[in-house]
Amino acid sequence: MLTIPASFPDNFLWGVSTSSHQFEGGNTLNQWHDWESAGHIRSGHACGDACDWWQNAERDLELCSQLGLNALRISIEWSRMEPSYGHWSDSAVVRYREILREARRRGLRVFVSLHHFTHPRWFEARGGFLDAQAPELFRHYAKRAVRSFGDLVTDWVTFNEPNVYAAFGYLFGEFPPGRLNELNSTLSVFSGMMRAHAAAYDVLHREQPEANVGLAVNYVVFEPARDNILDRQLASAYDTLFNRATLSYLQGTPLPLPFAMMAAPVPECAGKIDFVGLNVYNRLHVRAPLGEKFGPGGLHVPRNVPQGDRGVAAPYGEAYPKVVSAAVEAYAPLGRPMYVMENGVPDRTDRIRPWLLVNSLRELRRMWQLGYDVRGYFHWSLVDNFEWSEGWHLRFGLYALDELTQQRTARPSAEIYRQIIADKGIRRETLEQWEKAPGE
Ligand code: BGC
Repeated sequence: MLTIPASFPDNFLWGVSTSSHQFEGGNTLNQWHDWESAGHIRSGHACGDACDWWQNAERDLELCSQLGLNALRISIEWSRMEPSYGHWSDSAVVRYREILREARRRGLRVFVSLHHFTHPRWFEARGGFLDAQAPELFRHYAKRAVRSFGDLVTDWVTFNEPNVYAAFGYLFGEFPPGRLNELNSTLSVFSGMMRAHAAAYDVLHREQPEANVGLAVNYVVFEPARDNILDRQLASAYDTLFNRATLSYLQGTPLPLPFAMMAAPVPECAGKIDFVGLNVYNRLHVRAPLGEKFGPGGLHVPRNVPQGDRGVAAPYGEAYPKVVSAAVEAYAPLGRPMYVMENGVPDRTDRIRPWLLVNSLRELRRMWQLGYDVRGYFHWSLVDNFEWSEGWHLRFGLYALDELTQQRTARPSAEIYRQIIADKGIRRETLEQWEKAPGE
């Protein structure tokens, strides 16, 4: 008899994660379209038709069935729903309803994100989440969403990664609006998003008593490069700002000093979370820059660590399965169910993805065995998609995509994931085969 040493509970959710701008194609009314048109994509690409979901998401829903998934995460595009301020589109609702109905027909429990980095151009022009009205505008949008789709969806993710959105847009200048080193704006945007989260949480529950409302946080392990106080302090500052701030807001506790002096508390956020989505990819090494040559802010990816493909100008990050357990431990104090809502690696040739997939799942299962309330895993992603400032350069799909012909080709990882899902666990030989990262 086949024994499955690493087995998962029967009701575990097996999914993939996607987002509107990266998958749908033809999103020309949001701030990312303008950012692309202004020439900010390092690879020189534009999103274009993306994975053609606006015309044909159904083709990929069939792939979800072939993998045996029982869950899917998508996002809806605010700029399609409300293309200009106060004007709501009926045709967007019709199309999203078709996609949601087809997903349900296939037995997929769909988690819907309301904001995955993109929003309408008109909202950006008002200052985005720096605008004092942002929470109210977001509340309207959330209300519209639950009224339009509430008979098909009960699982809502208000925001994808407020920490990444704020840091990449206002500290690192990589995402629109491309501001650099503005720590105060970063923290204001962050708290603006958390205010908007609280407003959306309330309206979703008011409109739909059975709503299950969470958000997805990106969690990174920051490792001091050397055992000295400067590296340790810098790593801990990154950890506080990037990993712990969302937790503090949701717990209703101030950020630790000195950040508490810069960031307004958002008391209305406390406790407003029904589940936590953990987006877990990387470890970054932190070396206090003392006249030495390192990446921005002392962040650094050593050459000899397991990693997938490099970005156009810099490494993507160390592929690090133990970030799964670090994130679960960090967010457990909230006392809410947790899902790995994203995990993956850019890897065109599928050299390292099987190792990452198997070992991240092994970590997650270990946490479940230890008694942590972890309920599902969503891989990023189903097919290659438009990777923000890296364009089509980085490839995250279980299926390779030729974006010109829209042809999909399964990578070996797709079969590995399919088998794990069918077995509800990881076979001994799979664990053994992928025990070590390729090249280790
Ligand atoms: C984002 C995705 C992105 C993925 C891979 C996550 O932080 O939510 O949109 O494609 O990382 O970089």
